[in-house]
Amino acid sequence: MSSPAAPRSTRLTAFFRLGVAERRRRLLELAGLPADGFAAVDSGALSIEAADGMIENVVGTYALPFAVAVNFVIDDIDTLIPMAIEEPSVVAAASNAARMARPRGFTTVVSAPVMIGQIQIVHVTDVDAGAARLVAAAEEILGDARRLVPRLAQRGGGPVGFDVRTLARSGPDGGVLVAHLHVDCRDAMGANLVNTLCEALADRVAAIAGGRPGLRILSNLTDGRTVTVRCSIDDAQLASDGVAGAAVRAAIAAASRFAELDPYRACTHNKGIMNGVDAVLVATGQDWRAVEAGAHAYAARDGAYRPLAVWRERDGGLDGELVMPLAVGTVGGALHIHPGARLALDLAGAHTADRLASLVAAAGIATNLAALRALATEGIQRGHMALHARGLARAAGATGELVDRVATELAATGEVKADRAREVLARLMGMLGEPR
Ligand code: MEV
Repeated sequence: MSSPAAPRSTRLTAFFRLGVAERRRRLLELAGLPADGFAAVDSGALSIEAADGMIENVVGTYALPFAVAVNFVIDDIDTLIPMAIEEPSVVAAASNAARMARPRGFTTVVSAPVMIGQIQIVHVTDVDAGAARLVAAAEEILGDARRLVPRLAQRGGGPVGFDVRTLARSGPDGGVLVAHLHVDCRDAMGANLVNTLCEALADRVAAIAGGRPGLRILSNLTDGRTVTVRCSIDDAQLASDGVAGAAVRAAIAAASRFAELDPYRACTHNKGIMNGVDAVLVATGQDWRAVEAGAHAYAARDGAYRPLAVWRERDGGLDGELVMPLAVGTVGGALHIHPGARLALDLAGAHTADRLASLVAAAGIATNLAALRALATEGIQRGHMALHARGLARAAGATGELVDRVATELAATGEVKADRAREVLARLMGMLGEPR
C-alpha cells in the first residue's frame, strides 16, 4: 500500500460540475497518488479471478457508483471520503454538511479497538459456583489466550479481559453461562481472530465452569469499540433559501427530539446516518452487515430504540453528537484482494482502523445533518428531484452546460421524467444548432 501525503484542502467548490476525468485528476493530486491511481476501479475494480477466490459459485462481479465526498475536516485533517452507493443525493448531502461543519470541523474520540468473543456454556451443574470458578481462573485463561496470538500482543493488542454472565439457571439448556473474551484487535476488524480464540478456549472454559461448550463466536454488539463524533455549526451555515439559520437550528433540534421520543422516527433518523456510514464501509471493503447489526443493537441497548445522533441548540448554533459501535479494519478481510477498497483507503489517507472509524462516523453524522436540514426546511424531495433531473439530463445525452440547462427546466416544470428530458434536450440542441 502506498503512503499518500495528507490532502491539502478538500474544499472543492462545484466539484460535481467537473467531468469524471478532471475529478480524478484533482483527487489524485490532492491525495498524492500516482496518475494511474484510478486504474484500480476501472473494469469494476475486481477481476473475475479475484472474485472467484472471495466467495462461492461466482458468476460475475457487481458494480456500484464509486464517488468521493468533499469538504471534510476531521480532527483538523482535510479528508476525502470515498463512498460506494446506489442512492442519489447521499454524496452531495455529505459534502454539503461537511461544508457547513468545515469552520470548526468534525472531532472524534475513538475507543480502543476491543471486540467481544462469546463462549456459551450450557448444562452447567451449578451456575453460581461455575461462574465463580471462571472469575477465579480469568487471569490464567487470559494468559492462555495471549499465548495463542503472540504477534498481535507484539503489536500492542491481544486479549485484555475475561468476564462471565449468567443467562439461565434452568430450562431446556440447563444452567447457561456466557463467557466474554475481550480482545484488542488493533487495525484488524478481528472477526477471524476472535472466533479462532473462542474456539480454542471453549473446551477448557466449559470444563472449568462444569458445563458443556455451546456457541463460540464474536458478538457484533461491539460496545467496547465505539466512536464519538461531534460537530458544531453556526447559524450562518445553517441558513437555507430564505429560512434564517436560527429557525433551521430550532427545527433540526426539534427533529432530534422527535427521534428521541419515537422509535418509528428514530429508525429513519438512523437510516440517514447509515447512508453515510455504509457508503464508506462498502467503498473501503468493510463488513457493513456487522456494523449495521451492531449499530441497531446499540441503538436499542436500554430497551427502547433510540437515535444514534442527537442535536442540541446552543447560543448562535447547533451541536451534534453521534456515538456508535464501529468495528472496521485496515488489514485483513477483503482488503488483501479488492484493489478498489485499497484505493479508497489511499484516497482517504486512512491507514489505521482508528482513522477509518473516525471517517466513517463523520460521514454518518454529516448525512444525518443534511437530511434533517432538508426535512426541517424545504423537505427532502426538492433536492432529490434536482439531482434526479441531472441524472435524466445526462441519460438523455446532455453534456457540459446542457446538463444544468435541461435539469433546471425539468425541475422548474416539475416534470422530472426521461421522455421530457429527451424533448427538452432536443429543443435546446436545435436552438444551439448542435447535431444530435
Ligand atoms: C433517506 O435515504 C434518508 C432520510 O429518510 C433520513 C431521515 O429521514 O432523516 C431522508
